[in-house]
Amino acid sequence: MKRMQIGLIGCGTVGEGVARILMEQKELIKNRLGMELILKKVADTDTTKKRSVTFDKGVFTTDASEILNDPDIDVVVEMVGGTGFARKAILQALDSGKHVVTANKKLLALEGNTLFAKAARNSVTIAYEASVGGCMPVIKTLRENLVANHISAMTGILNGTCNYILSEITRLGLSFDEALSQAQQKGFAEADPTLDIEGFDAAHKLAIISAIAYGMEIDFEGVYVEGISRIEPLDILYADQFGYRIKLLAISKNHEDAIEARVHPAMIPVDSLLSQVGGSVNALSIFGDCTGEMMLYGHGAGMMPTASAVVADLADIARDIKREDGGRLPALGYPASNIRRIPV
Ligand code: HSE
Repeated sequence: MKRMQIGLIGCGTVGEGVARILMEQKELIKNRLGMELILKKVADTDTTKKRSVTFDKGVFTTDASEILNDPDIDVVVEMVGGTGFARKAILQALDSGKHVVTANKKLLALEGNTLFAKAARNSVTIAYEASVGGCMPVIKTLRENLVANHISAMTGILNGTCNYILSEITRLGLSFDEALSQAQQKGFAEADPTLDIEGFDAAHKLAIISAIAYGMEIDFEGVYVEGISRIEPLDILYADQFGYRIKLLAISKNHEDAIEARVHPAMIPVDSLLSQVGGSVNALSIFGDCTGEMMLYGHGAGMMPTASAVVADLADIARDIKREDGGRLPALGYPASNIRRIPV
């Protein structure tokens, strides 16, 4: 059986989740793909963090170059975030002919056009499902399922931290700072939480998905951005009395000759679907000309939901490698087993 060897750079919240899935769900993934995903190396400079996984001897290193310079590693998973070292590591991986999986929405929003062009020149993939909406399959849905649709608009909740803060203020009467600190403890917030609360994180994500939906280059500068830092608990209370919830919405519309893209807090009727989306959950309504409105919903932040999307990208790359080798997946995506059906 063919194997795909993986190097993970960055073992913070989501990186740790990726390592856990690759180790704990190894057999399940192998059975479904007909291919082994091997976590060969994990690099992180933090050697003191308590992690929920124990690595075999020789797997953990503080030196990412052990991954980037290893010719046996097929895919680099970049889980560092930001535009500094992460950018350098991705460029080096692409130059070495390695595929890249990343959740780095900031880097893709700002430099995705150049990075995707480089990957195409080098005949490798940059997979980025986890960059938008955590475990919600937004990228796959837009690129694959809706391939036959002209998309006219998208409206959604794309930042788990803001949604958590707004929901918990509404639900429990927490202060803004208490709710933010809980979101940080739960691993939803960015290392710099102003990216969340000032709306930039949602804007990065909106820039990425608008490019896919409307067939254009990524244009982060064109997104209007306003966050939730000026929302007071009193605003939430008054909105409630009028039958509204305050949500940080990401909205983009295709006007054919121009794209409108904006992120800002909005009052939405309490009985609308989006206002029911609570906690760190994200949701996105997509309007296609064949499908009409469709809605995705799922955990938009946090260790395991986001890691699940990263591993889905790894599986996609593994399938591509397998197809190139003439392999085929079973029609159901997994080999038939002898699990009984319960008679009813
Ligand atoms: N900080 C982000 C959020 C993490 O709260 O949605 C997931 O992209």
